[in-house]
Order: sequence, then C-alpha cells, then structure tokens
Amino acid sequence: MKIVAVLYSGGEIAKRTPTLLGSAENALGLREFLAGKGHELIVLTDKETELDKHLPSTDIIITTPFWPAYLTKERISHAPNLKLILTAGIGSDHIDLGAAAASKITVAEITGSNVVSVAEQVVMHILALVRNYIPAYNQVLEGRWDIAEIAARAHDLEDKTVGIIGMGRIGQRVCERLKAFNVKMLYYDQFPLRTVEEQVLGARFTSREQLVEQSDVITINTPLTPETDGMFDRNLIFRMKKGAYLVNTARGKIVDTAALVEALEVGHLAGYAGDVWYPQPAPKDHPWRHMPNHAMVPHYSGTTLEAQARYSNGIKDCLSRFLENRPLEQQYLIVDGGKVVSASYSYAFKT
Ligand code: NAI
Repeated sequence: MKIVAVLYSGGEIAKRTPTLLGSAENALGLREFLAGKGHELIVLTDKETELDKHLPSTDIIITTPFWPAYLTKERISHAPNLKLILTAGIGSDHIDLGAAAASKITVAEITGSNVVSVAEQVVMHILALVRNYIPAYNQVLEGRWDIAEIAARAHDLEDKTVGIIGMGRIGQRVCERLKAFNVKMLYYDQFPLRTVEEQVLGARFTSREQLVEQSDVITINTPLTPETDGMFDRNLIFRMKKGAYLVNTARGKIVDTAALVEALEVGHLAGYAGDVWYPQPAPKDHPWRHMPNHAMVPHYSGTTLEAQARYSNGIKDCLSRFLENRPLEQQYLIVDGGKVVSASYSYAFKT
C-alpha cells in the first residue's frame, strides 16, 4: 500500500527532539513501524502541489489538524485508490466527510488522544484573559511598571459564570478543572448529560441562548460541522454579556472572523483567546493577529509531547488493523461504510 503522511516541518528542532513525533522529520514513528512490512511511506510537508501529485496512486492519507491538508471533494475525486484517511489528533473537519463517504473511504481520528492537553490549555486561556496576563507580561518586556493600567482590567475568576458549549470529552475535562475555582458553570450540548453526570461535574444544562446571555466566560468545545460553522455569528457574539470573554480551542471557523474583530474593537467583548484559526497556518495579515485584547497562539494545544505520543500510538494501531484486514476501533471511526458514524459529527448529513 502507498501511505502518504502530510505533516509540518520541524527542521533542526525535530532532529534534536525525537519525541516531536508530529513533525515530518519524525513522521509519527511510522518509518520504523512500517520498515520491512512492504509498504511505501511518503512524508510530505507541502499540502497542496506535492500532495496533489501523489493523490492518483495513494491508498492511505494521514493528516493532522495542526497542519491540515484540506482534503476537499475535488482532491478526493483525484484519489481513486484512497481507502483510508487518518487524522493524527482530533477534529476531521479538514476532510470533506460527505465526499469521503460517497467514495466509501473510511475516516478515523485518534479520539481522546489530546483531550487533557486541550482542557489544560482552555483553563490557561481563561486565566490569561480574566487576569489580564498578556498586557502585564508585555509591560515587563517593555521595561515598564504601570500597575493601574493592568489592574484596571484584572479580575478574579471566582464567582464568575462560565459557559461551556459542547460538553464532550474536552468540555467535561474543562469542567472538572474549573470546579476548583468556585465558578458557576452552565453548559449547552446537542446531547444533554444525565442528571447524575451534571451533579458530579457541577454544571447545569441551559439553552445556547441563555448560556450566551448569562456567562462571563464562554469556552467552545464542539467539532466544526455544518451546524457549528459560523455558530458565533455577529448576532450571537453581540448577545454575549458586555465585557465577557470568549475562548475557542475548537475550530476557528466556529467564530465569525469579522464580527469578532468588531466586538473587540467596540469593547463589547473584553477578550478572546484560543489556538485555532481559519485557514491554517493563519496568513500574516489574518485580522485576529492584530485585534485588541486577544491572547491567540498558533494551533498547538492538542500537540504537547505527551499528546503526540498518544496519537502516534493511535495511528499505528489504526494502520496495523487496516493493513491486517481487522476492524478499526469503533470509537475512532468518523466515516465508515459510506456514512458518518460518529455521534459527535452527527448532523443532517447530505452527500
Ligand atoms: P467530543 O466528540 O468528545 O465532544 C464534542 C461535543 O460537542 C459532543 O458532546 C457533541 O455532542 C457536541 N456537539 C457537536 N455538535 C454540536 C452542536 N451543533 N451543538 C452543540 N453541541 C454539539 O470531542 P472532543 O474530544 O471534546 O473534541 C471537540 C473538538 O475540539 C474537536 O472536534 C476538535 O475540533 C477540537 N479539538 C481541538 C484541539 C486543539 O488542539 N485545539 C485538539 C483536540 C480537539
């Protein structure tokens, strides 16, 4: 089989950091794993021209959300042998799932592999915004000492209302971690939890609109689907409390780019943070790089060294099973047998 992995270039850093498994240089550990098994492994960093050249003869593609190869309907139509697409990480929205299903291609991701990594990052982003950390840090770099300027926008998180949109694996882990801060937690999900689960987590289900109107801080933890694409549009953003904060580590496209900039510029929102953008990598002139009161970083929350080890193992498990004609782990499957089978991605699905 011909296996193509599209990964970011890690350069010299990757060469001296063998645990940076997600880089093209270290190729998820697949060179060693596939050695002697009779398969061809091609590792690419170019996710357009070079990838396009290989499409007609490729059986398996491995991509990652951190350096997403956009597997559009058109690209899939140029890959007649393609049978399996694996996402090294979580979130397969860079793949046209409808086109994959129509071509009977299996799509799988490494469910659970980086949920702790993201949940920790969400808590960090919330604290960075609420405590006004970035401007304070910048003052140090600039050789300044102006307490009033920082303290006038610094708050305690305690007693604030935190709204969690998407109470899946990451959302629940965020909730567990925030409990220690004595906040009030609301959540919204297409599938509400059982009462006993809500009691353990200390979060109450509300409608999306109530959550948005009542929360001081909102964290988004849903996949990007046709339903969540642009969910935080101008209307929803301006329905948020004045002075509230928004944290998005889910996907950039869930939040309307221009409406967010406007809300920060007019001071309706006090801050925005996250690591996800559209497209990725974010162009140099992406408006979110320069909007006021943001704490944005490149997409890395789900790719700590520990997460990389977990999704590398998951990819090897999927490959072993597939190459030996054994079924993939059910929890990893997004598209299988010509349809979307993951509950997280369940939506009115049209091919
Ligand atoms: P999950 O599948 O465990 O949870 C997602 C939750 O969102 C589910 O409870 C689902 O019911 C809910 N949901 C889906 N559509 C919805 C809708 N229209 N309205 C309300 N709720 C909806 O997934 P997990 O592991 O918690 O990951 C969530 C997302 O986080 C991923 O799909 C990915 O986009 C993003 N992610 C980001 C990472 C990063 O590095 N920044 C790393 C890992 C995931």
